[in-house]
Amino acid sequence: MKGMILAGGLATRLRPLTLVTNKHLLPVYDKPMIYYPIEAMRNAGIREVLISTSGDHAGGFANLLGSGDEFGMRFYYAVQKNAKGGIADAITLAREFAANDKLLVVLGDNIFNFNLRSSVENFEKRLTGAKIFGVKMPTESRQYGVIEIGDNGQVLSIEEKPEYPKSDIAQTGIYMYDNRVFDFISQLSPSARDELEVTDLNNFYVKEGSMDCEIIDWWIDAGTSHDELLKAGNMVADKIGSGDLYQEKT
Ligand code: DAU
Repeated sequence: MKGMILAGGLATRLRPLTLVTNKHLLPVYDKPMIYYPIEAMRNAGIREVLISTSGDHAGGFANLLGSGDEFGMRFYYAVQKNAKGGIADAITLAREFAANDKLLVVLGDNIFNFNLRSSVENFEKRLTGAKIFGVKMPTESRQYGVIEIGDNGQVLSIEEKPEYPKSDIAQTGIYMYDNRVFDFISQLSPSARDELEVTDLNNFYVKEGSMDCEIIDWWIDAGTSHDELLKAGNMVADKIGSGDLYQEKT
């Protein structure tokens, strides 16, 4: 299985911090934000990772991360022409990179301490399908994709930032796909916010009944607001202090 980390977008919600700096290079406690998804990939046993960003920021990532040697990994870079084309638009950049392998996608502003290794190993054994990870958010789920889960654990629907959420389970930015993902993306049309939505992509798998969902207990989208960015830094500091955030030396 190969990995992809998305580090594009315009990050308008974090202005003026992001007027000249890419969001994923901003500090979260003691490290640039993108280090967290990179470490999540490494902890999952994934060594080859494609990092996508916009052309004007690609140099910053290459300077910071290089070939990946310092992480014991191999990094590849892709430029997303339309920095706000949508998450599914960015994923298409991995078509050749993924070749015939499955793909683990992690959004570059997502921070979590769940070790994905056994989920990756199990997913690799599956022939087809996809997997998402949800987190319970009793009051704020409507800011995210919202996952509706049936009594038998089956994913019934996913709605992007719904006004009336059908559940309190938010869709995180951690996705696993079989190789058909690129064909599904080619069938998508831009949403009302003019993006190719990951939620529309995921619903292809939901409709055919091949979408799994696992609930994780701690996750933060550091890119949502200045408050969430601050909260992410404070939570990381707390979790390192309590030994709850596993950190390998880089
Ligand atoms: O973080 C989880 C949420 O991420 C999910 O609950 C939503 O279903 C999903 O749509 C997404 O929502 P956001 O509105 O928060 O996505 P955002 O625009 O912040 O982009 C998420 C990440 O993807 C961010 O690290 C930047 C990157 N990105 C985004 C876009 C639109 C790209 O690399 N390229 C893009 O074109």
